[in-house]
Amino acid sequence: MYICICNALKDRQLAEAANDCNSVADVFKKCGTRPQCGKCLNDVADLIDNARAAQGEMVLAAE
Ligand code: FES
Repeated sequence: MYICICNALKDRQLAEAANDCNSVADVFKKCGTRPQCGKCLNDVADLIDNARAAQGEMVLAAE
């Protein structure tokens, strides 16, 4: 499913990029693009939050 229509970025691609990024700008940079209309920014921020939560769960599971 497309999250960012302006840059034709799909949820899977953005979620993968979000794993290594700390900001929305970093996610777009990793994808080789930059935000345009801005409508997707909250969704991209949610992907970063989800990635951080998943990484926290992995840390807790390893303890
Ligand atoms: S939908 Fe992502 S910048 Fe427009």
